[in-house]
Amino acid sequence: MARTRMVQRWRRNMEVRDDAEYVSMLTTLSEGSVRRNFNPYTDIDWNSTDFAVTDNDPRWVLPATDPLGRHPWYRAQPLERQIKIGMWRQANVAKVGLQFESVLIRGLMEYAFWVPNGSPEYRYCLHESVEECNHTMMFQEMVNRIGADVPGAPRFLRWLSPLIPLVAGPLPIPFFFGVLAGEEPIDHAQKNVLREGKTLHPIMERVMAIHVAEEARHISFAHAYLRKRVPHLTKHQRFWLSLYVPLVMRLLGQAITVPPKAFWQEFNIPREVKKELFFRSPESRKFLQDMFADVRMLAYDTGLMNPVAKLIWRLCKINGKPSRYRSEPQRRRLVAAA
Ligand SMILES: [Fe+2]
Ligand SMILES: [Fe+2]
Repeated sequence: MARTRMVQRWRRNMEVRDDAEYVSMLTTLSEGSVRRNFNPYTDIDWNSTDFAVTDNDPRWVLPATDPLGRHPWYRAQPLERQIKIGMWRQANVAKVGLQFESVLIRGLMEYAFWVPNGSPEYRYCLHESVEECNHTMMFQEMVNRIGADVPGAPRFLRWLSPLIPLVAGPLPIPFFFGVLAGEEPIDHAQKNVLREGKTLHPIMERVMAIHVAEEARHISFAHAYLRKRVPHLTKHQRFWLSLYVPLVMRLLGQAITVPPKAFWQEFNIPREVKKELFFRSPESRKFLQDMFADVRMLAYDTGLMNPVAKLIWRLCKINGKPSRYRSEPQRRRLVAAA
């Protein structure tokens, strides 16, 4: 009996057509996907000479917005080594990105499988999957052209990856928080690099510009999805969820920004540098905190900030002020804090 009620509630939560505002937002997003989308092989001219990857190209030096890129140890390395490290790191971030997207695509399919006929969520989730498929092709092409044999995410996450999408059907809310935990850090890092204005390799520049443009929709959807559902959870469910949110943010934020074991071994980087970089120095801590300002706003607005949750945000070192609106630039805050 209880089980039947649970299934009924689960099914009811998938019916969204009575919410005109949400339906209209989904329609706008879906129409946006049709109007503005990219193809990795027609919108990027991989074979043009501009896109060639050559040895010793200083455009692969890491930008100053990257925690490693601005570290004195890295800056003191010979240019040739800075380039090598830069190529490896940028390829690895692309690899983690595409692994994350692959999990996301499988999860979206799992979720969309269950939504009722006529649901506008079906169409939007499929648009998003198509876009993510294109992103994974684009990122993999970039990794292949850079030529570094990078592993991407830490091993335990790679091994766990087949199981994560299965959660999206029965537990879509934790799944979509996981989606944000991957999308927010990548988007934040890419926007920072583009804003910095450093001369990048054209592959990086093009790939990031395309990605940032399409991610805006994906992040909007995840926020709207969660804003619609979280406030209707029971008090108990909301409490457990509030503890899970900071943990998953930290876990995925770290998997994306901290290079895996192979990186430190390959380049023989001193342990001290690694510790300072992630996340002992004030700059790197700020980098970590800033990535999740929008998620903190979402957590406050949906009743997921209570004293215990706040403590976990703090222990995970991703506490701080929430954004006032989505994508609020964090630079002004640094000036204010200084
Ligand atoms: Fe993507
Ligand atoms: Fe995305």
